[in-house]
Amino acid sequence: MTQAITIKPVPAQEQGNIPSNPGFGAYFSDHMFVQSYTQGNGWGDAAIKKLEHFSIHPAAAVLHYGQEVFEGLKAYKRPDGGVNLFRPEENLRRFNESAVRVVMPEVDPAFHLQALKSLISLDKRWVPEETGSSLYIRPAMIATSAKLGLGASAEYLHFIITGPVGPYFKGGFNPVSVYISDSIRRAVIGGIGEAKTGGNYVASLYMSEKVAKLGYTQVLWLDAIHGKYVEEVGAMNICFVYEGSHIVTPKLSGSILAGITRDSVLKLAPTLGYEVSEELLDVNEILSDIKSGKITEAFGCGTAAVISPVGKLAFKGEEYVINDNQAGTVAKRLYDELTGIQYGSKEDRFGWTQDVGIAD
Ligand code: PLP
Ligand code: COI
Repeated sequence: MTQAITIKPVPAQEQGNIPSNPGFGAYFSDHMFVQSYTQGNGWGDAAIKKLEHFSIHPAAAVLHYGQEVFEGLKAYKRPDGGVNLFRPEENLRRFNESAVRVVMPEVDPAFHLQALKSLISLDKRWVPEETGSSLYIRPAMIATSAKLGLGASAEYLHFIITGPVGPYFKGGFNPVSVYISDSIRRAVIGGIGEAKTGGNYVASLYMSEKVAKLGYTQVLWLDAIHGKYVEEVGAMNICFVYEGSHIVTPKLSGSILAGITRDSVLKLAPTLGYEVSEELLDVNEILSDIKSGKITEAFGCGTAAVISPVGKLAFKGEEYVINDNQAGTVAKRLYDELTGIQYGSKEDRFGWTQDVGIAD
């Protein structure tokens, strides 16, 4: 059933100024999409309106028990002035999968996509021009029932906010330093690691704040049972390159987010002549393969981080430098191909992009 969306545009004189160097996640476009859910009535009151604060009860379940999910995708300005989305159905499918895991209602994917496109059309002036910049789109859902007894909420808010972003890491396409946590764990098989829900991110903060003071940009998480198998990084999946030609990434264990960029790398890389495999990766073998030079590159991949070379891994007091702490050719090629498809400057052989439907 298609729902109608009430659209209340912000008057021109009240619209915000667009920053020239937005960084990541600090600026927001003029409008937001919002709809609410009540048990029995389902979703309703869908609207696109001025971005504003919510008023929720202090006992709202999201504030106490973290019942929430979110997604992250981007809109890219093409050379012809149009705007591309990259594999949006994948994000909206994962949104619903995450929602099911934390007992939240699903959103009709076609309606979700329509809401997202209508929102971007209204805020099209916020989609940055420069390659490397994009409009970050953050769909989210929160539990709003006022009740302190532990249980699934009866009421929810689903919303989408957007904002212009540049590179996620300050250094842009330059190697980041990553610290492998040997004590704190992020997620466990059977837990919520494969869902995109706040609990996984708050679990990572203690370690990431600690190692940031030591100069590391991200934390690499090991599996929580053996403390041995490489899982993923705070905001991205991880790949290692053997002998310049074979890309290896941890297989999806149940505690890793099934990244859409990861999946795109696995599909794109073979067309560029690279071998790919998904494996159980023992951290000790990875580190010894870095030392022996068998591993020639490492990089993270994610929507916010795109393809980010990893120049150093630290574990138990020792540092392992990869490719002289320089961005490697495999990461660079994948970055160029992927962003070329996303921004519409390279042929989209996979049918991954979708036109938002707004001419310049
Ligand atoms: N792993 C984590 C924990 C993430 O937050 C992200 C980012 O969304 C990823 C991996 C990469 O996923 P995707 O490529 O779908 O953005
Ligand atoms: C994304 O890459 O879109 C994410 O959601 C990661 C987040 C930590 C910024």
